[in-house]
Amino acid sequence: MPVIKSLGYNITIGKDALRSLSAFLKKNKYSSYFIICDENTLQFCLPKLIVSCPTLKDSEIIELESGEASKSLEFTAHIWQTLIENNADKNSLIINLGGGVVSDLGGFCASTYKRGIDFINVPTSLLSMADASVGGKTGIDFAGLKNSIGTFAQPKAVFVNPDFLTTLPARHYKNGLAEIFKIALISDKKIWEQLKNLKSDHNAEQLVTKSITLKNKIVVKDPLDKGVRKILNFGHTVGHAIESLLLATSEELLHGEAIVIGMLIESNIALQKKLINTKELNEVTLILKKVFEPKKIDQLTFSSIYALLKNDKKTSKGKFKFSLIHKIGNCKFDVEVNEAQLKKAIALYNTLA
Ligand SMILES: NC(=O)c1ccc[n+]([C@@H]2O[C@H](COP(=O)([O-])OP(=O)(O)OC[C@H]3O[C@@H](n4cnc5c(N)ncnc54)[C@H](O)[C@@H]3O)[C@@H](O)[C@H]2O)c1
Repeated sequence: MPVIKSLGYNITIGKDALRSLSAFLKKNKYSSYFIICDENTLQFCLPKLIVSCPTLKDSEIIELESGEASKSLEFTAHIWQTLIENNADKNSLIINLGGGVVSDLGGFCASTYKRGIDFINVPTSLLSMADASVGGKTGIDFAGLKNSIGTFAQPKAVFVNPDFLTTLPARHYKNGLAEIFKIALISDKKIWEQLKNLKSDHNAEQLVTKSITLKNKIVVKDPLDKGVRKILNFGHTVGHAIESLLLATSEELLHGEAIVIGMLIESNIALQKKLINTKELNEVTLILKKVFEPKKIDQLTFSSIYALLKNDKKTSKGKFKFSLIHKIGNCKFDVEVNEAQLKKAIALYNTLA
């Protein structure tokens, strides 16, 4: 079973991952357990977790509503309140059982409650297995901005059991694939070549292991996002703005869906900045469109996207700093992009989508 070493903790991947979790719980004596989940992971994943880890049978369960709207101050307060009412102390453990919403929110609550208590991630969506559960970024959405409030806090361990994916809806599976395509585009051409011909019966465990390995290599070099880790933001500068603008509307996009649009627009900017050539842009565009079938975003005005980007964490001193692919399989960070380049790329996306 693959075990990947990260920033002071292990990521265990495989069908026996929950057995490793059981051993972890026996070894580390916690005073109480709090399992954070949403209604879907409560139904589909919690029973499997309890069977494999009977130590958890008396845990306090904190159930959220599924979806991005739960990454809010309101649910943060609900979790803090439940921890207080149930006397959670410095030696309590939070177990985030769910997708990226649960691990971002649960990690944030754990890292702020009593100035930080231990938490572990048991990811259940493809996106959280391949990406969100690893690297220590936690956070919530605030004032209409994605991840505007958050912390860096490493979990004590991550246990990835790909069997959970059997109940994940197809749309959410594809959503997770988006981040896997991103990590290949920015850091590994060989894996991009494999993804170009991804079969429907591919091995999810192998895919997740590759993705975590690539992400982990980057985050251990730059845990606090000061330098090379910024390449993970490829597609996210524009993607987050689009995701934020459509949040809580009838056209709300999943995170990965917004990131695909972001990658397409930012790849065009990479062409304008001569970081990739037309052949490379065509290849990226063809594959992302074929696999993800992204929608137009012509209902959003340029000024609304522009206004949000000015607020983006990645914008400094009014200058847009983008992470852009530099040939396929490489990425440059802190590339200055101006308004005209952004405008042109968005307009082109809408014409071609
Ligand atoms: N911290 C990070 O490094 C990082 C990285 C990427 C994304 N993110 C964040 O992750 C979030 C998106 O994560 P997500 O796509 O996992 O969303 P999510 O947590 O909402 O999960 C997606 C959906 O799948 C359901 N689900 C999860 N596991 C299931 C299972 N095994 N069976 C059936 N249903 C299941 C959930 O209930 C939900 O409806 C975004 O908020 C994004 O900002 C964080």
